[in-house]
Amino acid sequence: MKTFAIRGLLPALCLPLVIATNPANGADGAVARAADRATVQELMVTVVDPAADTLWDSVAYIANEHGVEDRRPRTDAEWNALAAAADRLIAGAQRLREPGRRVTDAPGGNPGPGELSVRQIGERLAADPRTFGLAARRLEATGRRARAAIAAHDPDGLLAAGGEIDAACEACHRVFWYPDQTRQGGPAR
Ligand code: HEC
Repeated sequence: MKTFAIRGLLPALCLPLVIATNPANGADGAVARAADRATVQELMVTVVDPAADTLWDSVAYIANEHGVEDRRPRTDAEWNALAAAADRLIAGAQRLREPGRRVTDAPGGNPGPGELSVRQIGERLAADPRTFGLAARRLEATGRRARAAIAAHDPDGLLAAGGEIDAACEACHRVFWYPDQTRQGGPAR
């Protein structure tokens, strides 16, 4: 499981932006259509990964030579920033399962050991969109569990949901990204 390591909370400043670009909130259609051309890779890098990181980094119990840090959201602003991150993760998972999404616009670079090439990922996606869609739904469901824990101001529930989110990332990656790799030797997740 991913370690829940140190990093800052997303500034509350980002909130209006998210609301403005979320098609579900009735944003202008041109914005929504442009966003829908995002590749799987773009969604990973710009939406799914940063949103998940914000959630993972929010709750931690860290003991080291400097003492003990019991990190958890405490203020309304912190909880609100996490709610926004969970909403972004859920929206990203929904966009991920829309059919016909390309893997990347920027192929090039060789795949790492055990990783599929961009072409192979594309072939797997085309051959089995159902499994990909189910994996995206699983991610969405775990995002909703995080969202519920945040609504209840429940740090333990959020920590548990973080583990489920991590497992959902891993389940899809093991089929569509690095099937030939063990976790230990492979990419971070
Ligand atoms: C439904 C499938 C699916 C789920 C769920 C999923 N991913 Fe991915 N992810 C992929 C695929 C396919 C790739 C390989 C293509 C690529 O390079 O982006 C990938 C690549 C990535 C990359 C590398 C992007 C790059 O620079 O090439 C990161 C980082 C990543 N995922 C993070 C995550 C995290 C974090 C989660 C869970 C919160 C997650 N992914 C959930 C399918 C998924």
